[in-house]
Amino acid sequence: MASYETLLLERRGRVAVVTINRPDKMNALNIQTRAEGAAALDELREDAEARVVVITGAGPKSFVAGADISEFAGRTAVSQREVMLGRSLFTAVDSFPKPIIAMVNGYCFGGGCELAMACDLRVASETAVFGQPEINLGIIPGGGGTQRLTRLVGETKAMELILTGDRIDAQTAFQLGLVNMVVPAADLEAKTMELANRIAEKSPVALRMAKESVKTAARANLDEGLRREIDLFAICFSSEDKDEGVRAFLEKRKPEFKGR
Ligand code: COA
Repeated sequence: MASYETLLLERRGRVAVVTINRPDKMNALNIQTRAEGAAALDELREDAEARVVVITGAGPKSFVAGADISEFAGRTAVSQREVMLGRSLFTAVDSFPKPIIAMVNGYCFGGGCELAMACDLRVASETAVFGQPEINLGIIPGGGGTQRLTRLVGETKAMELILTGDRIDAQTAFQLGLVNMVVPAADLEAKTMELANRIAEKSPVALRMAKESVKTAARANLDEGLRREIDLFAICFSSEDKDEGVRAFLEKRKPEFKGR
């Protein structure tokens, strides 16, 4: 695996863990971190042994406390647009073909919340705090926050959170449907890895089709979505994994999926 300056990349069996590693800056996303994050995903996309990815932040305090605000200082509209038109980490996460889980260990603000929302699942520690505080800087979320938060929690709450910049705790985030589960801080890693490993045992082919199909729901009308689901469902029938899954059920044993 390549080495990166602002993140750690390790593989634990079938689960790859990407740790954003700028704890002294609360893991704020600067240009380098975004580029390295996208490069790490490129690497993991090609790694057949990595079936599920977990993204987290280094240290106990912060997942990601947003975009690196120090980079905003000298930026004009033109230079900011150039940055935004470059490759987006959020898009790289969103379009990644394998399941990605955000393991949210603390502050999850701005671009951090946008990063977590671009992931497929979010596991939060009880001490995690969420928010889109951009409004306090005189800007708005630019990494998908206005769109993804609204899709995940509905317009009423998304509007409130984005207009006020207010923070919410993990339990509230759970009640809103922003996170899948909340666990004690001491159990965060074990619970997240347990979830990741459970998913990593499934057919990689079926996971990919399932992910694409669910994501289609937010992007297409019902007729198009149902049509796409049938196509993706049918593609599963071309896989060896489908033969193995069905055979294993009939033979009353655990399937061994190969990702083919
Ligand atoms: N961008 C750049 N640097 C950041 C940062 C960010 N988003 N968030 C934190 N940091 C830096 C701080 O500037 C500080 O650096 P320093 O030690 O060189 O002064 C360091 O991380 C530690 O942060 P600090 O504020 O001292 O820690 P704290 O525990 O008191 O507060 C936060 C943590 C996350 C509540 C606070 O840093 C914060 O509000 N950050 C900005 C969040 C935000 O607005 N994000 C959206 C950006 S669009």
